[in-house]
Amino acid sequence: MTHDSTGATSAFSVDDLTLEEKASLTSGGSFWATKSVERAHIPEVLMADGPHGLRLQAGAEDNLGLAESIPATCYPPAAGLGSSWDAGLVEAIGAALGAEASIAGVGVVLGPGINIKRSALCGRNFEYFSEDPIVSGILGTASVRGIQSRGVGASLKHFAANNKEDDRLRSSSEVAERPLREIYLRPFHRVVTDAAPWTVMCSYNRINGVYSSENPWLLTKVLRDEWGFEGLVVSDWGAVNDRVAGLVAGMDLEMPETGGVTDAQILAAVQDGSLDEASLDQATDRLLGLVRKVQDGTGAVEGPLDVEAHHDVARDAASRSIVLLKNDDRLLPLSPDVSVAVIGAFAETPRFQGGGSSKTNPTRMDNAIDAIRGHAGGAGVTFSAGFLVEGNDPEKDADLRHEAVAAAASAHVAVVFIGLTDEAESEGYDRVHLDLASKQLELLDAVLEVNPRTVVVLSNGSVVALPFKERVPAIVEAWLLGQAGGSAIADVLYGAVNPSAKLAETIPIRLQDSPAYLDFDVDDGVVRYSEGLFVGYRWYDARGLEVAYPFGHGLSYTSFDYGQATVASASASRDIKVRVTITNAGDRDGREIVQVYTSLPGSSVQRPPRELKAFAIAEISAGESREVVLSVRRDDLAYWNSAAQRWVVEAGEYIFDVAASSRDIRSTVSLHVEGDAYVPTISHQSTLAEAIVHPTVGPALRAILDEETPSGFLAMGDADKIASIMGDFPLVRFARIAGEALRPEVLDPIIHSSRSE
Ligand code: BGC
Repeated sequence: MTHDSTGATSAFSVDDLTLEEKASLTSGGSFWATKSVERAHIPEVLMADGPHGLRLQAGAEDNLGLAESIPATCYPPAAGLGSSWDAGLVEAIGAALGAEASIAGVGVVLGPGINIKRSALCGRNFEYFSEDPIVSGILGTASVRGIQSRGVGASLKHFAANNKEDDRLRSSSEVAERPLREIYLRPFHRVVTDAAPWTVMCSYNRINGVYSSENPWLLTKVLRDEWGFEGLVVSDWGAVNDRVAGLVAGMDLEMPETGGVTDAQILAAVQDGSLDEASLDQATDRLLGLVRKVQDGTGAVEGPLDVEAHHDVARDAASRSIVLLKNDDRLLPLSPDVSVAVIGAFAETPRFQGGGSSKTNPTRMDNAIDAIRGHAGGAGVTFSAGFLVEGNDPEKDADLRHEAVAAAASAHVAVVFIGLTDEAESEGYDRVHLDLASKQLELLDAVLEVNPRTVVVLSNGSVVALPFKERVPAIVEAWLLGQAGGSAIADVLYGAVNPSAKLAETIPIRLQDSPAYLDFDVDDGVVRYSEGLFVGYRWYDARGLEVAYPFGHGLSYTSFDYGQATVASASASRDIKVRVTITNAGDRDGREIVQVYTSLPGSSVQRPPRELKAFAIAEISAGESREVVLSVRRDDLAYWNSAAQRWVVEAGEYIFDVAASSRDIRSTVSLHVEGDAYVPTISHQSTLAEAIVHPTVGPALRAILDEETPSGFLAMGDADKIASIMGDFPLVRFARIAGEALRPEVLDPIIHSSRSE
């Protein structure tokens, strides 16, 4: 019996294990479970995917979404849930998922996935929340908290820079440290520090040449030393390249089982002295820590699963994930009195989740057509499939189109369900374009010709081009919404739910406009993140590009007026509060997602025109007003200074845009933020321009340069003028040209003075 760091007793410790037993614990015991050590009473820990429903396989095992899993509630995938911007909702879904895992005896749910949507083409975007690190970080935190509140661990994935599927097991994401830190790692940083996930799953890919599974910088320096992660790092399934290097780097558990092959490598390395046993002890200790947490099970839930109650949770979440993109002349909500032609196979056979390891086996399945019939009073509702979802049979498609157009012509309103097919987007491969199938677009055109009162409902896990945008009066972005999506869509169409979701990703007009357009593919083994910080709206705004619908956009059946915002901070080190009063100016109760973007004019570093730093949801009854308080973390204003290898909050007058979307700014205020007491160190390689503004080096240099010398180029005796012409010169080279005035005995002590800062 030993005591762990919290003082609680636990029945096993690293010290009780043999070298062979410790090595054995570094890889899985089966496809989904860790190893047990019976002699030491160490049980296995069972894991299951995630992230939007439990995928626990009772029979054949795979991570491809092929063999069946036990029935479980399919909640909206992250593409939908991300649009809710609702941390409370995401936490509730996490708790429901955690409860199902707990009932099923699962110790770790493999999710959430919080990778940034770098390109709309990533086949797995449906599993990720957003193109923005703050949205991804806040919602990821909520998900982990929810799952873990039920005594089940979360596995935050895929760490890191896994933003595409093609060649994901080998390709190297070549990304500069500043965007890596500010865009791709920032959400992981937030979740790790705010929610302490029990495990983090390393990604398949390499980052700047080094596999994530054997990257000491990523898994130890950043994750543990800087962020304080104390949990277990697990490999993505099959992500391990060199097991021993991985262990040294901080990759504790390899999954799935390897038949003992890599355990033997670890054992041999310890025995021949090439691997320090302390590294093995550390990994074993982390695994035992996970076992203890699972055994402790605080918050665990007793079965049986209340299938109906969880279905209702999924329905509520789905309705809050639907984005109303356009609603001209208030075509929506539909009145129960009008006749409706429902068109499109997805209304009957919904697309509700994506392919691959996250594929669940839902407990129930709602479809939109039945739910629409439930809402429509006496008015007639017809259904026509309109097109074949799979296969190519032009004759059959023409017949279906013909039938649908006839139905549209004789109804008051046509509601056309179009979207991506199962094959179009999945884990394991990327898309190559943004287009919907041409037969679906042709159907829509034909319907519009006979009935201009046409509503489009989109089913897609990642954004699609909307060439019909100007011709269709109402567009509903219904993403993939899980098993209750059909009812949720009908709830929104008929106004039983007032839509409140907003886009967590930009919908571009053309793929060619998008940030990663030229550098999405793997080229010679690498993916160049050439757009740097300019991901998503950061790019479209910086380039001044038109988009179909901007990040943060989403309509309601009511409208909201924004008052004048105010901004204040209690002290230089505290978070910044932005306050704004919002009025529900319409005649329906509603929810508004209020967004705060910041910028720093005159910043010394490159920055996007505006960046999201906070958001809040205001639930406001018709005609009422409410003050909304948004908290901007001071740390989130920091940029990553690569030279200094640290975060720096630059001093200055920051602009705070309070907005209804990234392109609908309603009120702007500014606040002077005191910067970090950070003074860069000057070296011989620093430029004259860098040195001249330094608090100690600058004045000393100035004194010399301001002095008129009898000859040479320092003769002008004007430090500013000299610096404006020769500012790019590294000091060492500048000094050589300057000659006597800056000989080493003079320059060296000046440079040295910067180190005592
Ligand atoms: C996926 C992970 C998943 C794992 C287990 C991998 O292929 O990338 O997200 O958790 O399989 O199914």
